[in-house]
Amino acid sequence: MEATLEGQGVIVTGAGRGIGAAMAKGLAKNGAQVMIADINSDLAKEAADEIKSGGGTATAYTVDVRDRANVKDMIETACAHFGKLDTMFSNAGIAQVRPFLSITEKDWQDVMDVNAKGVLICMQEAAQKMIEQGIGGSIVNTASIAGKQGYEPLAHYSASKFAVVALTQAAARAFGDQKIRVNAICPGVVATDMWKLIDEGFKDSGLTEKENQAFDEFAGIAVLGRASEPDDMAGVATFLSSSGSEFMTGQTVIVDGGLVFE
Ligand SMILES: NC(=O)c1ccc[n+]([C@@H]2O[C@H](COP(=O)([O-])OP(=O)(O)OC[C@H]3O[C@@H](n4cnc5c(N)ncnc54)[C@H](O)[C@@H]3O)[C@@H](O)[C@H]2O)c1
Repeated sequence: MEATLEGQGVIVTGAGRGIGAAMAKGLAKNGAQVMIADINSDLAKEAADEIKSGGGTATAYTVDVRDRANVKDMIETACAHFGKLDTMFSNAGIAQVRPFLSITEKDWQDVMDVNAKGVLICMQEAAQKMIEQGIGGSIVNTASIAGKQGYEPLAHYSASKFAVVALTQAAARAFGDQKIRVNAICPGVVATDMWKLIDEGFKDSGLTEKENQAFDEFAGIAVLGRASEPDDMAGVATFLSSSGSEFMTGQTVIVDGGLVFE
């Protein structure tokens, strides 16, 4: 893809590893200046260093997306580094595997706090900054195919991702007149540490017998015939922050190799 993001200031949360790191790398390759924001400082620094060693512009920031003051400071720091905020990727998320009847109130709270409340806070603070800047912008949330269908034993995770879809649509309606576009990416079954944890959860719950069985079974039905890698998300991430998608808002783009059709 040609360099379409030259000079853009971009934040990607949860970019220390996995999908966020791959999206950030792709964005930087296309000219964006990227803040790698993650709760894990070491991962954030490593991911930023990798981009810099490849000639891109990146800076690391330690953030907990559940903490509004922390998120505000992240945005101010990005603007101080890059001059402005053009695109906010709310990507940080956590997963838990629990049989439906075993989900506790604490499980619900833990997942909702990061996946739904964290996304809400990042969207609010980014939109506020973009309104002040007066030049529009793009907000891109990472939802999931689990935001399109409820998966047992990921019911509370699925609920949190349906929430991300709802927030995406509502915010698109709220900020259209400010030329702030809001879209979401719905990955499918991506080979990351999160899926390692999900796969273990299936095995520990007695739903599968072998390591990688759940991953292989879920990923194996993708019509494009392979599991997804984090890099598969980079092209759509670049598109959604570029002028190529300037008339697109309120959409949830499924990038799953053909698992869920709508
Ligand atoms: N892996 C998949 O198959 C898949 C599928 C659909 C959607 N997703 C979503 O994609 C996003 C990234 O997933 P991944 O597979 O790369 O996961 P991952 O666990 O590999 O990476 C998530 C990153 O988020 C960071 N993080 C966690 N809590 C945080 C917090 N409170 N504040 C800031 N950072 C925090 C972690 O430190 C980690 O670096 C998540 O929102 C996830 O729900 C993943």
